[in-house]
Amino acid sequence: MLSIIGKSVIELNVNGEIRSAVARPADVLLHVLREQLGLTGAKPGCENGDCGACTVLVDGWPVKSCLMLAAEAVGHEIVTVEGLKNAPIQQAFVENWAFQCGYCTSGFLMVCHALATLHPEAEDYVIEEWLQANVCRCTSYDEIKTAIAAVLKSTSS
Ligand code: FES
Ligand code: FES
Repeated sequence: MLSIIGKSVIELNVNGEIRSAVARPADVLLHVLREQLGLTGAKPGCENGDCGACTVLVDGWPVKSCLMLAAEAVGHEIVTVEGLKNAPIQQAFVENWAFQCGYCTSGFLMVCHALATLHPEAEDYVIEEWLQANVCRCTSYDEIKTAIAAVLKSTSS
C-alpha cells in the first residue's frame, strides 16, 4: 500500500484511464471518486459498509468504496458504474423493472456484474448471498434477482 503524508497527489486507474487526485491519508475512495474525479455513480449511503450503494469493482471484485482508503486503491484497477459500458446487467435491470428511485442501483449493478463475470453458473443460493451485500429501500429484491438470473442464464447457455 502506498503511504501518503499530508496531502499527496495519487494516480488511480479508473475505468481504464489513469486519473490524478489529491488525497489525504484518511480520504476514502468513495469521496475521491465523487468529489475529485466527478464520478458520482457510486453513492454515499450509510458510509459504514452496510448498504452497498458505494460499491465499485477493484480488480474485478465488488468493494465498498466507503471502506477503502484512496491510497489503498493505487496500483489496482477500479471500475465504477460509469465504466460499465453496455454490460448485459444494465439492460436486464431495465427489462425486469429492477429499480425504483435508483439510489442503490449502481451498487447493485456492480455486484451483479461481478457475479456474472466471476460465477456465470452461480446457483440461487449464491445469488442470494451476493445480494445480501447491498440494501435497497424501495423496490423488491425479486426483480433484482430476476435480472441477475436472466444474465446468468444467457451467459451460461
Ligand atoms: S455507503 Fe458504502 S456501504 Fe453504504
Ligand atoms: S431503488 Fe430505491 S433504494 Fe433501491
